[in-house]
Amino acid sequence: MKAISIEDIISLAKRRGFVFPSSEIYGGFAAVYDYGPYGVELANNIKAAWWKAMVQQREDIVGLDSSITMSPRIWEASGHVGGFADPLTECRQCHTRHRVDHLLEDIKVQADEKMSEPEINSLFDEHKSKLKCPSCGKSDFSAVKKFNLLVKTNLGNFTGDMDDPVYLRGETCQGIYVNFKNVLDSSRVRVPFGIAQIGKAFRNEITARQFIFRTREFEQMEMQFFCSPDDEMNQYEKLREARWQFYLDLGIQPENLRWHKHENLVFYAKEAYDIEYNYPFGWKELEGVHARGDYDLTQHAKHSGQALTYTDPHTNEQYVPHIVESSVGVGRTMLMVLADSYKVEQTEAGERTVLKLPKKLAPIQVAVFPLLRNKPELVAKARELFNQLKVQFMCEFDDNGNIGKRYRRQDEIGTPYCVTVDFETLEDNAVTLRDRDTMVQSRVPLSELIALLAEKYS
Ligand code: GAP
Repeated sequence: MKAISIEDIISLAKRRGFVFPSSEIYGGFAAVYDYGPYGVELANNIKAAWWKAMVQQREDIVGLDSSITMSPRIWEASGHVGGFADPLTECRQCHTRHRVDHLLEDIKVQADEKMSEPEINSLFDEHKSKLKCPSCGKSDFSAVKKFNLLVKTNLGNFTGDMDDPVYLRGETCQGIYVNFKNVLDSSRVRVPFGIAQIGKAFRNEITARQFIFRTREFEQMEMQFFCSPDDEMNQYEKLREARWQFYLDLGIQPENLRWHKHENLVFYAKEAYDIEYNYPFGWKELEGVHARGDYDLTQHAKHSGQALTYTDPHTNEQYVPHIVESSVGVGRTMLMVLADSYKVEQTEAGERTVLKLPKKLAPIQVAVFPLLRNKPELVAKARELFNQLKVQFMCEFDDNGNIGKRYRRQDEIGTPYCVTVDFETLEDNAVTLRDRDTMVQSRVPLSELIALLAEKYS
């Protein structure tokens, strides 16, 4: 079977209304994407599955929706203003900017995130004769500069003075840390407990490549779990297990997932693993699961002047809670789901492209067709059925083109079930139910259809 390329996925995503390049009629806007009618459903279903696993089914995790703009002091305390930077070089020939660690990665040289500007410059100097600009193929690079990724804005800054900017959040978890006390004081949670949040984050990524894998505006699903110092590694192991299981439960093929251990830890981290997925462009980080020690609350306590300690109600022991974190992007999850589901199959009627999406993520759950659009009695019956089904299922009504073409379209959207109303329906009150994966068609009495679909989706 031919390997699926990222171009195949980009093409289907555009053609079928999953993902559009941003601002396309104005010539585009780099590294930002819009989700179309099926993309927004898929993203919503991914977020709902995450929320269900991380909040609804957990007695010890609660939700939060903090603001995108926050006090700039937060980003000083977190270290982002001083250190959230990627190494950048510019091709002197075509003036394209590149991330130095990515250029080095392409020739299998590992650059360490924590390297200072002189250190990365010397590593780059050592190897740059072997490097070519991915855009123009020349080998003429500028010296490396560290480029801060925080996105500045001027909300409430009426002078427009960018010397004291407000930042669009670079990660959602800072909103969790600064609300630790609020959540503790206002809800029934006690350490150990977690706070989960889904929301937009912004980063001035230097290179825009790999479609929705790395974008400048993206959504994160993050959960920060607060625990006692002694309990940190125990909670960390439990979180790693839970996050791995989440992807298996979602239906992701296990052979496309693996753990990657970070060898060079930041000074405060106890342990850090990523879950990697085998994307069409290789194994890449999908999610980070990190044991962060007491760094985050200690930093915010120091910079805000507020005590962020916890007193154990049983032992009276007082400590700054340690944090274990799970952090994953919605776009990266969506790209994984699309890549994992994209299949090209040979059928009797020729080749078909089908998205074998996990059923719970499918943008459309049931498509309803009248066999012919110019037969009012079939259309009326199909509409009546559509109106009944849409109460319980995400449905689409389609009477456009021949049935074969309609099946192909729903296959590419990943719709698990199609229901056709034909002439026999008018006689026997039964419909044809077609299964996306097996393409098997079966006759189902209308009186049993809703219960059967509900069972399939349960
Ligand atoms: N709070 C920790 C944190 O933000 P990170 O490794 O920078 O850690 C976590 O990001 C996750 O967010 C990544 O594993 C990835 O899924 C997603 N992510 C990060 N930057 C992204 C970007 N530019 N575009 C899309 N997703 C991104």
